[in-house]
Amino acid sequence: MKVNRWVEALLNMNNNSQVQKLYANRADFYERLFINFLGWGKELETFFWKSDYVQPNIKVLDAGCGTGIITKTLFQLARRKDVGGVKFHAFDITQNMLEVFQQWIPKQGAKNIEIQKADVLEIDALPPYWKDYELIVASTMLEYLPKDKVEHALKNLRKLLSIGGILLIFITKRNFITRWLAKKWWKTNLYDEPGIVTLLNSAGFVKSEFKKLSFGWASSIIVIEAKC
Ligand SMILES: C[S@@+](CC[C@H](N)C(=O)[O-])C[C@H]1O[C@@H](n2cnc3c(N)ncnc32)[C@H](O)[C@@H]1O
Repeated sequence: MKVNRWVEALLNMNNNSQVQKLYANRADFYERLFINFLGWGKELETFFWKSDYVQPNIKVLDAGCGTGIITKTLFQLARRKDVGGVKFHAFDITQNMLEVFQQWIPKQGAKNIEIQKADVLEIDALPPYWKDYELIVASTMLEYLPKDKVEHALKNLRKLLSIGGILLIFITKRNFITRWLAKKWWKTNLYDEPGIVTLLNSAGFVKSEFKKLSFGWASSIIVIEAKC
């Protein structure tokens, strides 16, 4: 039993260091290509602008935040919609991604954003007050975990939700383009709608609802809102 755990930890470490290596070398490139050039940032802005996820005085967790696009988008939305009292926490396993994000925070004069290096599979390392979130967003992060670890990650995120809280997931969908681009180049796993619902159910989420992105993105990214 002990040996099994040790082997599991070792495999985990191996996958984590592969992810960190991948993103450590591509943090700026990711920001320029994916967020700016391909327009992931703009897409998220449109998606969240039409939603009512940002509410006064809520706590938001950006899990696997990368260079911070989810937090940045929601922070700016709260400002533009004059929604006060929102607190943002964000974590990622790759230091270089966090560093790109960190440079942005003081430029905004943002006092309500805290970021930290952490692994979604080991949430005990988070500060004790990082809990009771009304909204947790995991955007294109779960596909980097080994497939048999995703349920564990979802259970961890469920523990961090407040009663009635929402988990919002963006995850890469299996199609002709992503099979070539995401799997070969970015080394991600790919999912389909029934597969992700099954995982959510196994992790204790009883309600789930698919959300829509624009035509261009909808074929490559699944968006699903889950509640306990
Ligand atoms: C495609 S990027 C997405 C970043 C950001 N959420 C976005 O939408 O632009 C994937 C991120 O997941 C992070 N990641 C991968 N495995 C992780 C883990 N086990 N715990 C936390 N973050 C992880 C990577 O370091 C990377 O920054």
